[in-house]
Amino acid sequence: MPDSAVLNAIRAVVGERGLLTGDSTAGYVEDWRRLYHGRTPAVVRPANTDELARVVRLCADARIPIVPQGGNTSMVGGATPSETGDQLVLSTARMVRIRDIDPLDLTMTLEAGVTLQAAQQTAAEAGCLLPLSIASEGSAQVGGVLATNAGGNNTVRYGNARDMVLGLEVVLADGSVWNGLRRLRKDNTGYCLRQLFVGSEGTIGIITAAVLKLVPQPREVCVALCAVPSPEAALALFARFQSHDPAAVSAFELMSGPGIGFVLRHIDAAVLPLATHAPFYVLVELATPRPDAGLRTALETVLESALAEDIVSDAAIAESMTQRAAMWRLREEHSEAQKREGASVKNDVSVPVSKVPAFIRHASEACEALMPGIRPVPFGHVGDGNIHFNLQQPVDADPAWFLAQDHAIMETVNDVVREFEGSFSAEHGIGRLKPYMMASWRGGAELRLMQRIKAALDPNGIMNPGKLLP
Ligand code: FAD
Ligand code: MLT
Ligand code: ZN
Repeated sequence: MPDSAVLNAIRAVVGERGLLTGDSTAGYVEDWRRLYHGRTPAVVRPANTDELARVVRLCADARIPIVPQGGNTSMVGGATPSETGDQLVLSTARMVRIRDIDPLDLTMTLEAGVTLQAAQQTAAEAGCLLPLSIASEGSAQVGGVLATNAGGNNTVRYGNARDMVLGLEVVLADGSVWNGLRRLRKDNTGYCLRQLFVGSEGTIGIITAAVLKLVPQPREVCVALCAVPSPEAALALFARFQSHDPAAVSAFELMSGPGIGFVLRHIDAAVLPLATHAPFYVLVELATPRPDAGLRTALETVLESALAEDIVSDAAIAESMTQRAAMWRLREEHSEAQKREGASVKNDVSVPVSKVPAFIRHASEACEALMPGIRPVPFGHVGDGNIHFNLQQPVDADPAWFLAQDHAIMETVNDVVREFEGSFSAEHGIGRLKPYMMASWRGGAELRLMQRIKAALDPNGIMNPGKLLP
């Protein structure tokens, strides 16, 4: 527990507005899934990099553990302090300046606390696209998105958050500042330090600003919702769109019948724009900055042939921005709908794209054998081989009893992931939920290397203790 002299010194740096204590810390100590309920002596909200660096220096001198926090939307409890009550939450919520945007360089320089949605809007106003989209983008912040190397809906076309970073500014564990805010497309000058911090989940430094790559804004966007009989059919459809024009597919998302059912049941005004229900659905988005690319014709051509060959059983094409948004809502509200349906265990996993159908089948069978009545809800970024293989509790089960089985359920899924040479953590990261899995998945030289990096950059172990590494 930091003594009051340190808290007073921190208050002197950030002012009254920058320090929350007592009940006002409530929104910062519980994760989005409500799995973890931490405690903190204070939430510190610096207004700029200089203040943040001075706070970290004070914490380093007093050996106070720090939990960096952005939008607090982590799916793995990464931004939640422990129950011990001695970890300070360091929020970037007040660091919201867009420092620069340049449509010719196709870059934007912005502070860590800018929400992803605000960053997207700023890019759009400048005639550009920040091609990273996740359902939590209204709350998730640029710092958190980079610290987790978020993926999301457009990875199939543009890559993960890591692929959008040209430069970073980072406050290190001793409070010093590394200014690597270069906006160069080419810069071969030794170890690529910025990529070390991307995906590091707040365990070696705090990202305070970034230079992100932008792309030209699309001139044409087409979205369709397709009913498909199976994940095999979904992949066959993906292959057709890719072979027609791989540069056009900007999203290709899979949903299951039960998943859509939860959204229709729990989300206001959600409507299925198709005549009948199906075992699986695909949401496909085509987008292009090219004039006269004929996306609509391409979409219709591929769908007509897929309908004729029973790869697709029904399809609806969005005719307006409103319809497009309504289709996307069916996909984006999956997590919220699942939360309202009761307890669920999440498995954010990836396998080679071609193995997705077999993975879904094997993992469903294995989970049903482990727990009769368990409800698999596989969905997600099938174009990247990233399936959220989430399991909903059996209808009449006690949620607490179900959640107590989470390790057994996750291990059952992970055994199948291993069989298909996949990853136990595709895009959400490790956080507090999965460090115990690291030794078996990334053990040996890989884990030792990570531990040496951690020890070198955070020798006193004050940066987000208990997260990422076992
Ligand atoms: P937080 O939750 O605040 O923090 C996440 C981690 O980053 C923590 O370890 C924290 O300590 C660290 N951190 C935060 N800020 C900094 C910083 N400035 N410097 C260093 N470390 C920092 N994720 C995906 O990848 N793809 C999805 O499609 C997706 N969909 C989601 C949908 C919903 C409804 C929700 C609730 C979450 C979803 N997520 C998804 C997970 C989550 O939104 C992402 O991981 C996001 O990138 C986290 O951003 P955040 O600002 O909320 O970070
Ligand atoms: C999403 O893609 O919507 C989230 O990452 C999935 C989840 O809630 O597991
Ligand atoms: Zn996802």
